[in-house]
Amino acid sequence: MSHTIIEPFRIKSVEPIRRTIRVQREQLLRAACYNLFLLPADDVLIDLLTDSGTGAMSTHQWAAIMEGDESYAGSRSFERFRSSVQDIFGYKHVIPTHQGRAAERILFSVMCGTKKGDVVPNNTHFDTTRANVEFVGAEAVDLVIAEGRQPSLRHPFKGNMDVAALEALIQKVGRERVPLVMLTVTNNSGGGQPVSMENVKAVSAVCRKHRIPLYFDACRFAENSYFIKIREQGYGQKTPKEIAQEMFSYGDGCTMSAKKDGMANIGGFLCTNDDLLAQQEKNLLILTEGYPTYGGLAGRDLEAIAVGLQEALQEDYLEYRIASTAYLGNHIAAEGVPIVQPPGGHAVYIDARAFLPHVPPDRFPAVALANELYLEGGIRSVEIGTLMFGAAAKMDLVRLAIPRRVYTQSHIDYVVEVILEVWKRRDQIQGMKLTYEAPFLRHFTAKLEPEPAEVAAAVRR
Ligand code: F0G
Repeated sequence: MSHTIIEPFRIKSVEPIRRTIRVQREQLLRAACYNLFLLPADDVLIDLLTDSGTGAMSTHQWAAIMEGDESYAGSRSFERFRSSVQDIFGYKHVIPTHQGRAAERILFSVMCGTKKGDVVPNNTHFDTTRANVEFVGAEAVDLVIAEGRQPSLRHPFKGNMDVAALEALIQKVGRERVPLVMLTVTNNSGGGQPVSMENVKAVSAVCRKHRIPLYFDACRFAENSYFIKIREQGYGQKTPKEIAQEMFSYGDGCTMSAKKDGMANIGGFLCTNDDLLAQQEKNLLILTEGYPTYGGLAGRDLEAIAVGLQEALQEDYLEYRIASTAYLGNHIAAEGVPIVQPPGGHAVYIDARAFLPHVPPDRFPAVALANELYLEGGIRSVEIGTLMFGAAAKMDLVRLAIPRRVYTQSHIDYVVEVILEVWKRRDQIQGMKLTYEAPFLRHFTAKLEPEPAEVAAAVRR
């Protein structure tokens, strides 16, 4: 018989969480200007804001931390870090950074922006990736397949890039204006959806034909590998690590946030096979991050990542990880809650435009819904939609990101209960109005207020 999939670990250290009551949460939300980023974390009961840096480390990681070599140059921990990264990713140069966006900034500073009009295609740029591309004066273009933009439509690899659209874009702007192509695995902003090996190969072939380097935004590479294993023909017998190794072999480098599938609380890296680029990247690294054998991290962080990357590829962990995300998604979808189908690897995404059809995108339906989930049950989620991406947003989603190895099934049952309670009174939820916004990455610091009831009623009419 096949048994229920359970957490493949037991708990050795616990962290208390605190309940609040609704009137407190009303006050807290008002004080946070209706932006959940501005809430004190102590006032959150279940924190699904992000899966980034929020995971629980293993006994092996904590033990490795004690082995950290804090030497400024040539640290032993760097050697362990590099060999773990190279074992999986296979790239020649491994450059540590304090997190993923630092790798992005360095990569795009070196590869773009020397001339005007550079274009960077991606399946879907994450917010910091888009911002870093735009910051160096280049244009970020999202080329996910059409299925990837329809939340309710089921497709095994909704993160795939539209290969014909990539080819057409290169033809239109000319290869010299495309300094690199990126593939984000899994496609975070598009619902945590995987990219198939077939698609990786096809994108790689287009890139090689035009002599354009292909880089992975590899944050959730282990989850992507597991989806390939269970969904793509020919991979069922391979280990997640073999799948990851094959995937990276089709590219020329990557950026990585070790806060996701690195199972660490901080860290990242940049990889490339290109000697000249690596040299330029290390020069920039020294300017703002640190010497190339630590790149803004402590030796102990490098140790935690070296172990974490390998743990993220363990099959029993990945089986549990993907099953636990699906558990949340399937339970709310069964009651009619519209979600991005199928559930993603690290998160479940509620389709807020379908949940609140009476709230138009410019009234931030996903912000309104995220606020309701906090009011109802102290759950913190995050908007991925019009507040984050402005008019470029194709969807308005509430992302419930699941920290790795942190919450148990009863926590998730509670989350299901809260969402269903809000679902029952969805008609009464009104839109939001922006009262402050920063010039870029505005969602982190935006201030909002609920729309007065009479305005909401007028919009509905
Ligand atoms: N790329 C993707 C696909 C990401 O999801 C993130 C971070 C980054 C790059 C940047 O990495 O945070 O280490 O600088 N995503 C987090 C999230 C913040 O909540 O999805 P970072």
